[in-house]
Amino acid sequence: MREANLTMMRSHYCGQLNESLDGQEITLCGWVHRRRDHGGVIFLDVRDREGLAQVVFDPDRADTFAAADKVRSEYVIKITGKVRLRPAGAVNPNMASGAIEVLGYELEVLNEAETPPFPLNEYSDVGEETRLRYRFIDLRRPEMAEKLKLRSRITASIRGYLDENGFLDVETPILGRPTPEGARDYLVPSRTHAGNFFALPQSPQLFKQLLMVAGFDRYYQIAKCFRDEDLRADRQPEFTQIDIETSFLEESDIIGITEGMVRKLFKEVLDVEFGEFPHMPFEEAMRRYGSDKPDLRIPLELVDVADQLQQVEFKVFSGPANDPKCRVAALRVPGGASMPRKQIDDYTKFVGIYGAKGLAYIKVNERAKGVEGLQSPIVKNIPEDKLNVILDRVGAVDGDIVFFGADKVKIVSEALGALRIKLGHDLQLLTCEWAPMWVVDFPMFEENDDGSLSALHHPFTAPKCTPQELEANPAGALSRAYDMVLNGTELGGGSIRIHRKEMQQTVFRILGIDEAEQDEKFGFLLDALKFGAPPHGGLAFGLDRLVMLMTGAQSIREVIAFPKTQSAADVMTQAPGAVDGKALRELHIRLREQPKAE
Ligand code: AMO
Ligand code: AMP
Repeated sequence: MREANLTMMRSHYCGQLNESLDGQEITLCGWVHRRRDHGGVIFLDVRDREGLAQVVFDPDRADTFAAADKVRSEYVIKITGKVRLRPAGAVNPNMASGAIEVLGYELEVLNEAETPPFPLNEYSDVGEETRLRYRFIDLRRPEMAEKLKLRSRITASIRGYLDENGFLDVETPILGRPTPEGARDYLVPSRTHAGNFFALPQSPQLFKQLLMVAGFDRYYQIAKCFRDEDLRADRQPEFTQIDIETSFLEESDIIGITEGMVRKLFKEVLDVEFGEFPHMPFEEAMRRYGSDKPDLRIPLELVDVADQLQQVEFKVFSGPANDPKCRVAALRVPGGASMPRKQIDDYTKFVGIYGAKGLAYIKVNERAKGVEGLQSPIVKNIPEDKLNVILDRVGAVDGDIVFFGADKVKIVSEALGALRIKLGHDLQLLTCEWAPMWVVDFPMFEENDDGSLSALHHPFTAPKCTPQELEANPAGALSRAYDMVLNGTELGGGSIRIHRKEMQQTVFRILGIDEAEQDEKFGFLLDALKFGAPPHGGLAFGLDRLVMLMTGAQSIREVIAFPKTQSAADVMTQAPGAVDGKALRELHIRLREQPKAE
């Protein structure tokens, strides 16, 4: 310990200095955040990962003063000095060390710095591209450092909880076979097996199941996953899961354990205590919120009204109202009748993003006046008795606006579901800060446009029925899957898995995977299910999304040290990059289009 101390340059972090150190000599190491010259006295704000400290240099020590005069922003310096209380008027409540300052005795420049590409000591509107290009500087900004520090506390809390609950941390391979999680794979060519490719894991799904077959009983891993999919604010090509699997537990046990983990995490890190997590069937979530990840902070709900509109002459409504693949739904917005036309037009454009062809509305000015009291481009097309049933059903009162969507189920749910969230934020309708929940009773399969079926979760999820019942009515079968949703974001998803070969083969068959393909792609899994696979199940959380929500960040890129851009590139290291001809030859690869000669 002594020896380590001898080689350690600093005695304290800047942000840790406080009144208790008054009179002590200390040594700081860090970066010059700001330099001010106040008529013969020089102030340096010195920054390290824990925060800032103000160091004062006066001309009494001429050499040190001269050195302080030369330093510039982002120089790396070492300072020795004495802590003293600031005079009453000079206390800075915005700085952790704002009650004290350091009188600088010695200053050593450990390294100089060129003028940074963007200032760190004041707010500046830097484009994300520039921030990512110089990420090592961007991460010096205290708000960025805070996020990564919180991320580290989050993983520490999670590891602590899982260790206490008997989970073993086991690593699984990065080079493997494709795992069907529904996205495109990142492929890695093999040098030693000409023409063959590894896939980077979309998740450790099959390996964690094999660990259960191997008897490990409770597994976890903070695992990197790779998915080549279209990126959004909450998606990266390379992201991190808190991956969990258990044996001999039911849904309710797994939900209990993982909910306990999230409760402890929020209490420990944010001092937030969650109430009960409601459990909502998938069907109800889609019907009431148009989403399988409803944001329950927003009190608006979709209400189905097709039954009232089957006979009306207005084709926009009667068409979908009579088509089982369609939906006609209403969304009441309390107090929305005062909304100007321009705003309604903007919302109409907004739902257009989701394929909606329009956004019919009724402004409820004075219900007592009947149709006269309503203002709307559509009321003339709907008989008054039907209108009244609809308005009663949505609970419309004077001053409200009711929006309508009529189209394919998917379009109406997505469009009104997204409008609901947008209205919730625009009109500041949020009723609470945190709304965690579980979505349960997912269907096993979803239908593709060509009528074939895809697994809604993944093909290893167990159904709630026997193989015979599943085969008889796959489209109607429910799965033993569950998702944890927080504030409208899917934080994690999991399921009880299939642990019998017959059931697994039934699911493969329904998905159109014949025996030859089953053997080729999943032979190892089918083998494992033959040799004593225990009942098992688990779940995976998206760590980046969790950290995003807990830090209030707008994008997961803000909570990943070195994220990719929207086009899945790293602008700092310039990845992906070209490879020379020799490397390609070794990998048995010939490019279709040769790069142009320089
Ligand atoms: P799933 O595909 O639902 O399940 O993924 C689990 C969680 O991972 C997060 N996530 C992502 N985060 C950032 N960028 C992405 N591209 C991305 N994709 C997913 C989400 C999601 O809830 N093997 C199963 C889990 C299981 O069944 O145990 C799986 O991967 O927060
Ligand atoms: P139109 O008859 O096309 O002028 O539309 C009358 C009203 O219905 C307008 O307010 C449109 O925005 C709205 N509308 C049109 N198509 C749809 C639809 N598919 N769903 C909901 N509203 C629609």
